[in-house]
Amino acid sequence: MKKTIIITGGAGFIGSHVVRLFTTRYPEYRIINLDALTYAGNLENLKDIEKLPNYEFIKGDIVDAEFIDGVFTEYQPEAVIHLAAESHVDRSILDPMSFINTNIIGTVNLLNACRNIWKDDMEGKLFYHISTDEVYGSLGSEGLFTETTSYDPRSPYSASKASSDHLVRAYNHTYKLPVVITNCSNNYGPNQFPEKLIPLSINNIKKNNPIPVYGKGENVRDWLYVGDHVEAIDRVFHQGKNGETYNIGGNNEWMNIELIHLLCEIMDDRLDRAPGTSAGLIEFVKDRAGHDLRYAIDAGKIKDELDWEPRVTFREGLEKTVDWYLENQDWMDNVLSGDYSKYYNKQYKQR
Ligand code: NAD
Ligand code: DAU
Repeated sequence: MKKTIIITGGAGFIGSHVVRLFTTRYPEYRIINLDALTYAGNLENLKDIEKLPNYEFIKGDIVDAEFIDGVFTEYQPEAVIHLAAESHVDRSILDPMSFINTNIIGTVNLLNACRNIWKDDMEGKLFYHISTDEVYGSLGSEGLFTETTSYDPRSPYSASKASSDHLVRAYNHTYKLPVVITNCSNNYGPNQFPEKLIPLSINNIKKNNPIPVYGKGENVRDWLYVGDHVEAIDRVFHQGKNGETYNIGGNNEWMNIELIHLLCEIMDDRLDRAPGTSAGLIEFVKDRAGHDLRYAIDAGKIKDELDWEPRVTFREGLEKTVDWYLENQDWMDNVLSGDYSKYYNKQYKQR
């Protein structure tokens, strides 16, 4: 094997797509998926690749420094792609501490473990930190986030991710740890946990339950198909420059309510419902506390320097996503059977 890469959070939504791409496209890499299997981690996401000879799964918590040091000493990875995180903004509002622990302490534990095993030779090593556009705060109706936009995180989730980004840069500057960071916009696609807007709405529409739209539905997000994101991650992993940050986005801004109407149109078509039936399920509910108005990414740097651009149009991506969820009802049923209903009731029934 040419290289051992630890991918953290590989059982989650984006992580599972990264693990699939790296194990299948690069059989010469040994891919170690290190994941705690929280409510968001699901090994079913990787059923098709779990028997590959270059894939291995380790269950463990990045908050446990001793455990992490032990894994890194044993496996001696040349690279880390760090995706493990608490990732849902609404949960960070209900319970900030798990975000502080995993997203900040967990990231520092990984940085320390890399320092420890790479201290005598940093050549060819890489700590790749996957981050979010939410660290830049909220935009008004104009403008785009660039790599030099000042940080202004406004939720416990985005503040914890911002903190981890600063620590990654500090380890690069102080200890010369080779790092790269990407800040990406909203992803969607197969295997996303149904707490997030698109899969939650697909599930509710299918079951004829209300679609909860926060506030007036006027918030804007820049949506990127997960397959395009993992292509960008491949590009940055292999060609990104030490110490650099790259923004990744879909050039695809949608107001939430308009997105929901498009989704309803696709669902009516797929479920053979009369046009307008699913839209009748829309229900405006109490707004998210501190709800950021608009995110939008200027992805010019990654296009100019690494020749990456999104390929999947929004309609095509949404149709693929809807079809995947409708064809994988077992996946949804398994996910919903856990603790999720407790969270759902707390988040939506008391609003
Ligand atoms: P996810 O919630 O679907 O998956 C997170 C994974 O991390 C799960 O498999 C979970 O078990 C694992 N995990 C959580 N805590 C852990 C811990 N303490 N130790 C080990 N494993 C742990 O998240 P996602 O949406 O796939 O996001 C992945 C990464 O990408 C995150 O860092 C997130 O901040 C970032 N990101 C996500 C988006 C998006 O739209 N989903 C956009 C930009 C950036
Ligand atoms: O921008 C990147 C970020 O995108 C990632 O870093 C996060 O991990 C990811 O969760 C996502 O954050 P958002 O808060 O933007 O995603 P979410 O799907 O939770 O919400 C999208 C928009 O839809 C947001 O404006 C809130 C709104 N919303 C969400 C839910 C769950 C609703 O109106 N109703 C809902 O029930």
